[in-house]
Amino acid sequence: MRVKQNHYRTVWMDRQSVFMIDQNLLPFQFEIFESKTYKESCAAIRNMTVRGAGAIGAAAAFSMAQVILSAPEQNFWAYAEEGRKEIENTRPTAQNLFYAVDRVLGAARKSQVPKKAALEEAQSVADEDVRSCQAIGETGATLIKDNARIQTHCNAGWLAFVDYGTALSPIYAAAKAGKKVFVYVDETRPRSQGARLTAWELYHQDIPHAIVPDNAGAYLMSIGKVDLMIVGADRIAANGDTANKIGTLEKAIAAKEFGVPFYVAAPRSTFDLNCNDKDGIPIEQRDEEEVLYQIGLTQSGKIEKVLVASPGSKAVNPAFDVTPAKYITGIITEKGIVTPSRASIARLFGR
Ligand code: MRU
Repeated sequence: MRVKQNHYRTVWMDRQSVFMIDQNLLPFQFEIFESKTYKESCAAIRNMTVRGAGAIGAAAAFSMAQVILSAPEQNFWAYAEEGRKEIENTRPTAQNLFYAVDRVLGAARKSQVPKKAALEEAQSVADEDVRSCQAIGETGATLIKDNARIQTHCNAGWLAFVDYGTALSPIYAAAKAGKKVFVYVDETRPRSQGARLTAWELYHQDIPHAIVPDNAGAYLMSIGKVDLMIVGADRIAANGDTANKIGTLEKAIAAKEFGVPFYVAAPRSTFDLNCNDKDGIPIEQRDEEEVLYQIGLTQSGKIEKVLVASPGSKAVNPAFDVTPAKYITGIITEKGIVTPSRASIARLFGR
């Protein structure tokens, strides 16, 4: 995507360094963070400098390549396994992270020249993410009619992947094809990925949109303002149960109640066929600070963190929820739209 006339991917690697758009500074500042070691990359994934399923996956792939590049000759594979564990411990829900680390370490292990193989495989993970998201856009755009009003939750745009995004990719493709669209952007507390990141993306792509409070979604659906809901996914179980940003589940239930088609958009790298159903999906619990404090821009132009809750109160902060397959109309993938059932998902993987 273009930012200030330049084309950017969300995350990329050059020599030993991983570069990422610093998403903690958006939408107020656009800066690139350089991570020189895999430990720095792990910290960047954990503190959400880079976030979103596919972007986490690519960052994890490049981190795994950094591990292999820095591995000492003695104890090479023990060091690699240690690094793998550290990367896997950063964010537990995003399946793309585990998929990517597995691929890069697997390619290195199979090769006579592990460093070269790791770098090439990490680059393939990132490039495939771009191609898949572009294909998701083309397929998903067929669901969008002219003048459609679409609701989305969190940020599953290009910032959440290497490029294009998943939930927003069909919207970009539909707009490019000349369709008029309007997007209701769920604010997505506590970290406000909708208000901060999705809105920033849509604003810069000239897509008409409005940020809505998280608790307004069901009302908008109930008065017929929403034609379609499209969200991303962080992990999809073998039966179609889908983990996504906290708050997705209640939107899916409301969508069913009010007859709004509810689509999930995700590449095959987000499916976890080893996970039978929702009970097997680990849900990340994050720091209560994210609920109690907000970071924003003061009127004098400074980025500041302020307390937005009653001093002394505690908070709980589950980062994801799981929408049972029965609430999902279809899953938009790079191989077409599949129904969220065991049989269709098995077919998607040629099983
Ligand atoms: O915690 P995050 O911001 O990494 O959450 C992941 C997400 O961006 C969302 O859940 C998104 O809707 C699906 S992943 C693109």
